[in-house]
Amino acid sequence: MIRMQNVAKRYAQTGEVLSQLNLELDPGEFVFLTGASGAGKSTLLKLIALIETPSRGNIYLNGHNVTHAKRSQIAKIRSRMGLIFQDHRLLQDRNVFENVALPLRISGYSQREIPRRVRAALDKVGLLPKEKSNPIALSGGEQQRVGIARAIVHKPRLLLADEPTGNLDPTLSLEIFQLLAQFQQVGVTVLVASHDLNLIAQLDKRVIRLEHGHALTGLRGD
Ligand SMILES: Nc1ncnc2c1ncn2[C@@H]1O[C@H](COP(=O)(O)OP(=O)(O)OP(=O)(O)O)[C@@H](O)[C@H]1O
Ligand SMILES: [Mg+2]
Repeated sequence: MIRMQNVAKRYAQTGEVLSQLNLELDPGEFVFLTGASGAGKSTLLKLIALIETPSRGNIYLNGHNVTHAKRSQIAKIRSRMGLIFQDHRLLQDRNVFENVALPLRISGYSQREIPRRVRAALDKVGLLPKEKSNPIALSGGEQQRVGIARAIVHKPRLLLADEPTGNLDPTLSLEIFQLLAQFQQVGVTVLVASHDLNLIAQLDKRVIRLEHGHALTGLRGD
């Protein structure tokens, strides 16, 4: 599903953040990405989401080399991904339904299809009764679940989450991880960046640790 081969990332101001990074994720895997603050977890997710481009090396998605994908290709590749952020980035002046519907509207889904898909997504995260609420009226955990519904509403094959539990207490955080694990059970490949080792230890999943720009245990068979 994802293969990174000798990938390096250098930022002009910061220098080389990732160097000689190799990792592989099989389709349908659930993997935690961990490492100290500044280790490059967010950078790695941005490389996979084609938000940043590597300074060296190659990135393959589904066997295709996407390292130098063109803008038009990037849009298409990204439309098959779901992205989840720590701060969920919900629009406060739109209700839950509209927040989740937004990616579908942008992608030009039909008016008939949108309600069906939005409600299916809200049902998966247990928020169907709150579709008319505004994000401000929801708890932190509920807001993050709206962010997850928005990320999966177009049925992506790959789900990337960057510190999705950063602002939540341990119980809610575990619930969010378990919710993400449910998507793996229906065949979605899930990559979750988190520095919360206690929480990670509660789920029996593969862990890739970033250190000094390298992925430790990043390759199959390590
Ligand atoms: N756009 C950028 N321009 C310059 N430097 C950057 C940029 N983005 C990240 N960096 C730097 O790259 C390094 C890795 O950052 P990154 O955000 O990938 O780490 P992280 O592992 O996600 O950290 P955290 O756990 O704090 O979220 C840091 O030193 C950071 O300052
Ligand atoms: Mg980060």
